[in-house]
Amino acid sequence: MLPDVVDLIRCPHCRARLTHDPGRRVLRCTDGRHTFDIARQGYAGLLAGDAKTGTADTPAMVAARDAFLRADHYRPIADAVAAHAADTIAPGAVIDVGAGTGHYLARALDAAPDRVGLALDISKYALRRAAKAHPRAGAAACDAWQRLPVREAAAALVLNIFAPRNPAELRRVTDPRGALVVVTPTSRHLAELGRTLGLLSVDTDKKARLDDALDPYFTPAGASQVAFRMALDREDAATVVAMGPSAWHTDPEAVHAKLAALPAPVHVSAEVTVSRYTPR
Ligand SMILES: C[S@@+](CC[C@H](N)C(=O)[O-])C[C@H]1O[C@@H](n2cnc3c(N)ncnc32)[C@H](O)[C@@H]1O
Ligand SMILES: [Zn+2]
Repeated sequence: MLPDVVDLIRCPHCRARLTHDPGRRVLRCTDGRHTFDIARQGYAGLLAGDAKTGTADTPAMVAARDAFLRADHYRPIADAVAAHAADTIAPGAVIDVGAGTGHYLARALDAAPDRVGLALDISKYALRRAAKAHPRAGAAACDAWQRLPVREAAAALVLNIFAPRNPAELRRVTDPRGALVVVTPTSRHLAELGRTLGLLSVDTDKKARLDDALDPYFTPAGASQVAFRMALDREDAATVVAMGPSAWHTDPEAVHAKLAALPAPVHVSAEVTVSRYTPR
């Protein structure tokens, strides 16, 4: 792990700094009592024992997400995130909470050439990819609902994209001059697929509700709708279902069967809100 990335991390048990002995795949806290393995794939295992891992993306969801994002179907969303990274002037890293495969973090780092990045997620399948997402990024396993294993004010920019968020912790790790960028789907996101496939409609994060939840810690500093149409072949349409929350409730065979009855390409709307916040 890059020394600048290790410098962002703190022991999840005693909050001490960690050191990395480059010859070994171990992080050790300077208190000396706690050690953490670095997986062969390069991410640090910093999960506390009582973390709830039930919401971690499964191997199939991660593989679907990786394929879909690599095909660049969500490029306008990645471009919007990268523009925020380019606009941030505070000192510090880019930290992506619920980073998945690290796709957006990598795009943000491309736009911020002097920064390092840290991908946090609870899914080891996601982290295996995130650890290799960018030469200036590291990755660590942790639970976004618990205290993050990150030092105070480590981040110039925190990203939170279709992922769980604990406002107090997001604030703690953000530099006072930094920013938080949150991406949430609107009710029109993937709506055609929802209707055609009879997917559970996801309770979208309304902007006002998001502002309320973040309000004790962050002030809204602008939001934009990113809306575009995708012409997907049936395989990609099945993939976007398989990578999202509906994957928990749908049978892939049934999705494929319903998509087979549709004319290709399948025209699907993507619509998200990209919201920027500054620390109070
Ligand atoms: C819908 S995916 C979004 C991933 C990525 N931000 C993206 O947009 O490609 C949600 C991510 O949150 C992660 N996740 C779920 N529960 C979590 C938790 N309690 N702590 C940290 N990450 C969690 C999942 O493993 C998954 O990678
Ligand atoms: Zn420790």
